[in-house]
Amino acid sequence: MRVLGVETSCDETAVAVYDGAVGLLANEIYSQVDLHSAYGGVVPELASRDHLRKLLPLLRKVVEASGGAGAIDGIACTTGPGLVGALLVGSSVARSLAYAWDVPCLGVHHMEGHLLAPLLEQEPPEFPFVALLVSGGHTLLALVHAVGSYEILGSSLDDAAGEAFDKTAKLLGLGYPGGPQLAALAERGRPGAFVFPRPMTDRPGLDFSFSGLKTAVVVALRARVMDEQTRADAALAFQEAVVDTLVIKAGRAIEATGARALVIAGGVGANRRLRARMLAMGERDGLRVVYPRAEFCTDNAAMIALLGHLRLAAGQSDDLAIRARARWPMAELAPPSPGPGS
Ligand code: KG4
Ligand code: ZN
Repeated sequence: MRVLGVETSCDETAVAVYDGAVGLLANEIYSQVDLHSAYGGVVPELASRDHLRKLLPLLRKVVEASGGAGAIDGIACTTGPGLVGALLVGSSVARSLAYAWDVPCLGVHHMEGHLLAPLLEQEPPEFPFVALLVSGGHTLLALVHAVGSYEILGSSLDDAAGEAFDKTAKLLGLGYPGGPQLAALAERGRPGAFVFPRPMTDRPGLDFSFSGLKTAVVVALRARVMDEQTRADAALAFQEAVVDTLVIKAGRAIEATGARALVIAGGVGANRRLRARMLAMGERDGLRVVYPRAEFCTDNAAMIALLGHLRLAAGQSDDLAIRARARWPMAELAPPSPGPGS
């Protein structure tokens, strides 16, 4: 089965085609980062309008590159969670195309896409594995038993890890998205110049809280001259605190579940310090640490096409309604089953 995947939940317009027999046939992405950077964050209305402008040309390119519309057997699009206007653009286009081409259509969950993204790789981890999802909008630890069977072990009670990076970057006078810029600044920091707390590591449980960390940075810098070295020192100490917290909690999740593989997904997964620390933990504990390649870690349509394939090939599909859900708890997800549209 060949599935077209469409992703428009936030500030990336992405389209891909995944074939069950061959794998990924085409994968394109258009990032709106330049559009939003002037505002210091994503502006939802601008995001929707830009998806409208970019989606059809991108679709045409991907469909042509993958062997034409006649070869598409089904369509999957992200219907949540995300910006509702942005989701509606992808949802309307996907639903209409499915109607025109007379193929089944399925709305899928963005976070489930992230959790299963490692299955796009040549040597995917075996179920069950622990997934640490660290993006701009979400931070969660889940035990992935099978497609549609997820045990949420912990999640952020306030800011997501990426959000904490972005907000702290802003405090340090850096641009948007701040994560990569803060990480670059941290390279020039002096270890030990500042020490920030490792939130919620002193008690049991696998939930996260990052908003206090940002406040700790504000308080520490209040009495200081904000020269280049001080900013770099603060960036390094902040990054160490987040990375340390993620490593501690992921280690505890592995211990609690007995899983032998740890997958790290989401944009913060691109952080080099986090990678090095997680790989060191893997080596020490005989644990397989899997990082999907960067383009599958951040938002993309390949994971949506793959997830759509896993569910559509099992007979699941939606009716003709166009859907978009700003919020969609992962607890509502279930293994694939034939739906009303099948
Ligand atoms: O998964 P993603 O591309 O988008 C979603 O939020 O869904 O994640 C983006 C987030 C941003 O907050 C960005 O600052 C952060 O990932 N990020 C990083 C790095 N690269 C991206 N954070 C820390 N270090 C990095 N190298
Ligand atoms: Zn995402």
